[in-house]
Amino acid sequence: AAAEKSGFRSFMDKEIHDQPQAVADTLLGRTDLQGRLVLDDLRIDESVLRSVDKIVVIACGTAAYAGHVAKYAIEHWCRIPVEVELAHEFRYRDPVVNEKTLVVAISQSGETMDTLMAVRHAREQGAKVLAIVNTHGSTIPRESDAVLYTHAGPEIAVASTKAFLSQITAAYLLGLYLAQLRGNKFPDEIAEIFEDLRQMPDKIQQVLDRAGRVREIARWMSDTSSVLFLGRHVGYPVALEGALKLKELAYIHAEGFAAGELKHGPIALIEPGQPVFVIVPSPRGRDSLHSKVVSNIQEIRARGARTLVVAEDGDEDVRPFADEVFYVPQAPVLLAPLLAVVPLQIFACELATARGLDVDQPRNLAKSVTVE
Ligand code: G6P
Repeated sequence: AAAEKSGFRSFMDKEIHDQPQAVADTLLGRTDLQGRLVLDDLRIDESVLRSVDKIVVIACGTAAYAGHVAKYAIEHWCRIPVEVELAHEFRYRDPVVNEKTLVVAISQSGETMDTLMAVRHAREQGAKVLAIVNTHGSTIPRESDAVLYTHAGPEIAVASTKAFLSQITAAYLLGLYLAQLRGNKFPDEIAEIFEDLRQMPDKIQQVLDRAGRVREIARWMSDTSSVLFLGRHVGYPVALEGALKLKELAYIHAEGFAAGELKHGPIALIEPGQPVFVIVPSPRGRDSLHSKVVSNIQEIRARGARTLVVAEDGDEDVRPFADEVFYVPQAPVLLAPLLAVVPLQIFACELATARGLDVDQPRNLAKSVTVE
């Protein structure tokens, strides 16, 4: 088994480092000679995809956060309303779905029982189901109308890392494909975004190359008892995933919040020394989200929080209020989660390792949960 880890301490470490390749593989072979997107494996009628009037993403755990990122991208690119729901909640609440609903089931294993039951339930209501899955030959794609494979390669560590980045990437591809099919965007706009996507593996590699500092901080913080994560827009699911990784790997209390929600409750948790990760949106984004999140950092810092900030290269505004800044390369706003989540994965993995824990097989968890 040591050999399969190719020199890494754990499968998780290896899989975190596999991420540039995983994303590149998910993008591979998705365009034709004219640069148009082709999703060959989809096996679904184009007319169905053209008539869809709502998308519902169903998934569990990390896969659900990939769906959460997908919502921002697909709504922006395609103007189709997208709901994201935990599969086990969707299944038991009498959801409004019909023939015009596209249900997108996201699952690394393709075997998660909660997700499978939701797929069956959706199809019984007449919805078409498209599965975004990593494992070939698994049950969920077999029981779905269409499948988009993520090509991340086998993921051994129980907690998901490279499959997450591949799921987000596949969801972007689906969004762009729908935009192309439905004429929401000009072909050159789609080609441009696809080109931006193609640059992401190199940028993820840069984040990995700069990970020394986040590892050091993680080791220093190995006896911390609670960490909070704040993010906004696509940074919100990144915050949720950062918190989930820390719970799963290090068994530390961790919570992710939408940064805008801070003043509506979570700020009461801030006391001197409380570590808080803040995912800062690009200052190049439209709107004023960047300055709002910078104000959040200022607010929690004033109350004694230890601020650990993930920001884009060149963002100097965060420095005065940050105890640490982990810079990631610049990227289009919607694609930024592929970069921002990486320091958080490394933080959780390193901190858990420093605590002497088995990051590949955390207690009480299973890789595919085949019971409801
Ligand atoms: C388990 C794993 C998680 C994973 C979730 C969904 O709980 O521990 O890491 O995110 O299942 O798994 P799936 O295979 O459906 O993506």
